[in-house]
Amino acid sequence: MKLNHRIVLAPMSRYRCTRQTAPDVMMAEYYSQRASEGGLVITEATHINPEGTPIWNIYPAIRDHGGEAPGIWTDEQTMAFRKVVDAVHTKGAYISCQIQHCGRVAQDDIKDHPLVKGSDLPIGPVSASSIPIPVTSEEDNQYNWDQPSSPPRALDFDEITRVCGDYAHAATNAMKAGFDHP
Ligand SMILES: Cc1cc2nc3c(=O)[nH]c(=O)nc-3n(C[C@H](O)[C@H](O)[C@H](O)COP(=O)(O)O)c2cc1C
Repeated sequence: MKLNHRIVLAPMSRYRCTRQTAPDVMMAEYYSQRASEGGLVITEATHINPEGTPIWNIYPAIRDHGGEAPGIWTDEQTMAFRKVVDAVHTKGAYISCQIQHCGRVAQDDIKDHPLVKGSDLPIGPVSASSIPIPVTSEEDNQYNWDQPSSPPRALDFDEITRVCGDYAHAATNAMKAGFDHP
């Protein structure tokens, strides 16, 4: 991408999505406010599948009032992102989607999320090994908002292929939503 200037919006999670983890209208306004002609905006971390989605039930503001991090594995999420992308493009800026699988930062309680409960979607936490996040200081625990992390399950060989496929699916959805890519 050829940019007009070097001020890039860094990815920053804002927890403003609907219960379906789709961007709310507020997000189109938020990102377009930060867009400028020939600039680059990078979205907040956007999850490729429920298994890679962190902290649903941990943070009380999210649990009690909604306000979630986005995902981009469903059509609803993808179409909602289209509005964000269009708003940024209207200001003449580029926008890229930061796609993420949060690995062992995920928590067991994602299984109770209304979007995945009762479905056969894979749920976390998974990692390269079954070693949980070590907590050696208060700062280490920041990823889980002061809750001990759930021990992850080690992915087996076939599942690694499945996670790569989930990344490809999320990237394809991002392109459908109109995100820019080099
Ligand atoms: C509220 C907040 C949310 C953040 N969320 C993300 C995120 O979703 N993905 C990411 O890669 N970095 C995230 N970061 C890190 C920022 O992108 C950035 O790297 C960090 O603030 C350091 O920026 P600096 O080196 O310009 O000071 C977040 C930072 C803040 C303050």
